[in-house]
Amino acid sequence: MHDIGKVKIPLEILNAPRKLSSEEFELIKNHVLYAKELLENSGITNKKIIDGALEHHERYDGSGYIFKKKGNEISYYGRVLALADVYDALTSKRSYKDPWTPYKTLSYILAHVNKHFDPVFTQNLVNSLGLFPPGMKVMLNDGSEGIIIATNRANKMKPIIKINDYIVDLLEEKNLRITKIVAYEYIEEQTT
Ligand SMILES: [Fe+2]
Repeated sequence: MHDIGKVKIPLEILNAPRKLSSEEFELIKNHVLYAKELLENSGITNKKIIDGALEHHERYDGSGYIFKKKGNEISYYGRVLALADVYDALTSKRSYKDPWTPYKTLSYILAHVNKHFDPVFTQNLVNSLGLFPPGMKVMLNDGSEGIIIATNRANKMKPIIKINDYIVDLLEEKNLRITKIVAYEYIEEQTT
């Protein structure tokens, strides 16, 4: 919902498979203001939600937009969404780029801690993804192969896996465990 303001940006700018002009980029920046307007007009009064949408492009060092807030001046959800938004954008397919792997994405994020991202929230993101981020292809002890679709907070060694058309929760399937990382595989439906 943080990006809902993009509905007011022309599609040819939003999906342009090229570098945007500075005028176009200035236009896109307004999506955070449009988001506030749209959310408020639809009856959402929770300030945390409004501020999250409004501040998701602020950066920890003050180099973001639209208010150039820094550090803890940026609301809690503004700082969380800044991380989630970049993680999602980099691991997704876009008209101008292929999806990045979780490792490459986390490397990028770690290189920008204290610049773009809150250090504590970044640490939490890394901890929550663990060794088996969504999208990774793994082999189990029974020889089957599956793709990680979600992490289990209670045990990061026991994620939820899609094997063929079945969803398997390794926390519940006590006899199954991951024996090998096969590859990272991009999952189309994750980003639609
Ligand atoms: Fe955005």
